[in-house]
Amino acid sequence: QPTDRVDHMAREIDEQPDAAARILDTIGDDIANGALWRSLELAPFERLRLLACGTSLNAGLVIGGAVSRFGGLAHNIVVASEAAGTIVEPGTLTIAISQSGETADVLRAVEEGPRDRPMLALVNNLHSTLARNVDAVLGCSAGAEIGVAATKTFVCQVLVGTGLILSALVEFGRLSSGDAAHLVGELRSLPDRLATATLAARAAIPGIVDEVRHASGFIFLGRGAAVPYAMEGALKLKELTYRWAEAYPAGELKHGPLALVEDGTPVIVVDNGDPRLAGNIAEVLARGGRVVTIGRAGSVVDIPLGTLSPCGPLEAVVPLQLLAFTLAAELGFDVDKPRNLAKSVTVD
Ligand code: F6R
Repeated sequence: QPTDRVDHMAREIDEQPDAAARILDTIGDDIANGALWRSLELAPFERLRLLACGTSLNAGLVIGGAVSRFGGLAHNIVVASEAAGTIVEPGTLTIAISQSGETADVLRAVEEGPRDRPMLALVNNLHSTLARNVDAVLGCSAGAEIGVAATKTFVCQVLVGTGLILSALVEFGRLSSGDAAHLVGELRSLPDRLATATLAARAAIPGIVDEVRHASGFIFLGRGAAVPYAMEGALKLKELTYRWAEAYPAGELKHGPLALVEDGTPVIVVDNGDPRLAGNIAEVLARGGRVVTIGRAGSVVDIPLGTLSPCGPLEAVVPLQLLAFTLAAELGFDVDKPRNLAKSVTVD
């Protein structure tokens, strides 16, 4: 049952626009002129390996997408607990992403190396074990996050991580400083976009929650740059509400998950304007699914999702966080301390 106490998670969601603004004030110029990358004193890389777990892994998906999209460089995403034995070619930079810097799976993967390839940590805790065990460290500067479910650390990881990539690409001559300045200009709209998304979501989510509160399972869909956010939405929903939630690139729907859709099944679509989504939505509606679209005018949660931004529709994460939060609160669960989970997972 809803209470009048302020949960940490609710506060941390509300802090996201300010956290993004603070980061952009601090590093915005250093992204466009390459100084952010230079400050790390690392050798240039030809490919990127992103190592993380959970929400940090979803941030890695966004960051990896930026290096390929804007720099034409290959990247691979490595689930930290499965890193053993993966081949790390010469010229690879590993970025280990972890808000706590204490996640055992990440620490083990870093330890296993290979240590003759450079490693950078993107952490919220600059004094963590991970920060001590790598060649260079970059803070994601989210400030304290107490709720077990990562929210503002995710937004800050995405922002700092994509900023780092743009900065590196400028230094490597793969992105012109003019184009980088344009992209940073887009990033500078993020605080406002996050604030708009928060307002829109706070208005729309309670009604959606009323409709879907009895559903036993949820499907999250996106295409292209929206996919990592669909994944993050499903992760948040699972961990807070204890309901099943599956995330897929929307094109995968007809390759299996469509069989799950029946009358009333909630299907949450992060709609960044990809025209192919219309067909996916029609397939769901034809089977009686309850489609909740986030993005584009006329969506159930109407927020103008950026499509050109270096980090895709980042503001979509706000309604997704609030959907999970509000449903969990309605069901009477402790949103700050979900069952079976811990803020730092120090066992592997
Ligand atoms: C989910 C969540 C977890 C963490 C994961 C990795 O809300 O917080 O999935 O993202 O346990 O933690 P860090 O980032 O500390 O390595």
